[in-house]
Amino acid sequence: MKVTVFGIGYVGLVQGAVLAEVGHDVVCVDIDAEKVDRLNQGHIPIYEPGLTPLVKDNYAAGRLSFTTDVAAAVKHGEVQFIAVGTPPDDDGSADLQYVLAVADSIALHMDKHQTVIDKSTVPVGTADLVSEKIKNVLTRRGRSDLTYDVVSNPEFLKEGSAVSDCMKPDRIIVGTNSKDAEDVMRELYAPFNRNHEKMIVMDVRSAELTKYAANGMLATKISFMNEMANLSERLGADIEMVRQGIGSDPRIGYDFIYAGAGYGGSCFPKDIQALIRTADSIGFDPKILKAVEARNNEQKTTLFRKIDQHFDGKLKDKAFAIWGLSFKPNTNDMRDAPSRVLMEALWEAGAKVQAYDPEAMEEAQRLYGDQDALALCGTKEAALKGADALVIVTDWQVFKAPDFDYIKQKLKSPVVFDGRNLFDLKRLAKRGIFYYSVGR
Ligand SMILES: NC(=O)c1ccc[n+]([C@@H]2O[C@H](COP(=O)([O-])OP(=O)(O)OC[C@H]3O[C@@H](n4cnc5c(N)ncnc54)[C@H](O)[C@@H]3O)[C@@H](O)[C@H]2O)c1
Repeated sequence: MKVTVFGIGYVGLVQGAVLAEVGHDVVCVDIDAEKVDRLNQGHIPIYEPGLTPLVKDNYAAGRLSFTTDVAAAVKHGEVQFIAVGTPPDDDGSADLQYVLAVADSIALHMDKHQTVIDKSTVPVGTADLVSEKIKNVLTRRGRSDLTYDVVSNPEFLKEGSAVSDCMKPDRIIVGTNSKDAEDVMRELYAPFNRNHEKMIVMDVRSAELTKYAANGMLATKISFMNEMANLSERLGADIEMVRQGIGSDPRIGYDFIYAGAGYGGSCFPKDIQALIRTADSIGFDPKILKAVEARNNEQKTTLFRKIDQHFDGKLKDKAFAIWGLSFKPNTNDMRDAPSRVLMEALWEAGAKVQAYDPEAMEEAQRLYGDQDALALCGTKEAALKGADALVIVTDWQVFKAPDFDYIKQKLKSPVVFDGRNLFDLKRLAKRGIFYYSVGR
């Protein structure tokens, strides 16, 4: 099938490459000419396990290409994916300008029936807006004869395992009332739907809300556990024991119930906010979502508060080794990462940061390259040198079994703050390390 993907970000690039891998003929289009140029030279702009060979192989095979030529891209595809960003607007609602700009481009250049697939995370009602936009442009062009469907097909990939999530999706949500559009979607996704039926077809609005409900539920689990962690600290309990205790109940399960330094990334924070705004806009008070967001904002300051308390508020000119900058392991994405809240608070207090991340160093340089109080270190060991304490913010595998004697030897004082509860309390105490974690 000939496929066009608008937006070459985490979603568009991975989805485009995966669709090419199963044999579709995919053109990815972006307005960022530099990104497109670099992709055409073989530079993959994001880190995702397995993505680089997938893109390179399919590019070489001629099934995947990158362009800024919107007219040619629209002419190429039988289906047109919209996979552009939906960042928060000033008031937290989803900014739809990029999505609607793509709808405009498609309508300007289409010359045959099109299935427009909304993959971006968008508020309920957006498919109607996209449809209306296309209709208006076609009317202006005098091409009201052209027909089209707008389908909601939200993306559920997880950064850090995006390729395998797209290759083996848990479910494929398709929102449409059109039998023809459903058939197109079945043909498009047939290679991913062989093992068992994964496609859940529903009306458009339900599909749009499904995406927000999924992220809302996951964020709620995290904020709930962080709330229990705060209670644990005050009541003398250990959240890790509590986690295991409740995870053993199959109705609860072990997944996604880790306490920590708060959720970040490009999805949860903005999607929770956007859903709150949607609810507010129709006069409904989303009490749970507001509490989830408030708990998370507070949780993102927990590491700083522990550090500040340990050093009696005297952080000026102290140096902190930070392990982990990305918002979670296996990605270079630092959007809304807890590490940023921590580093910015440390700088505000006059402290310095010596940071290491396995994949996010370039991104950190892009975001904070002009920050004098930040040293980006080539290894996790280099970050320790002369630091007053080590702070672990992201649970990358390489941080999980460090040489504690070495850490002790390199730090000025043997203090470890752990935002991910990676280590055993007694073991670290036995090694003479002051160990602060979350909820224990
Ligand atoms: N990142 C994730 O893990 C994830 C997961 C599920 C859903 N989503 C949703 O998918 C959408 C895309 O997210 P992302 O993380 O891939 O975004 P991103 O910011 O990484 O990429 C968006 C891309 O769209 C391009 N773009 C903007 N306007 C364009 C236009 N008019 N034509 C062509 N390209 C244009 C940008 O230049 C950019 O390269 C968002 O709505 C997001 O909420 C993201």
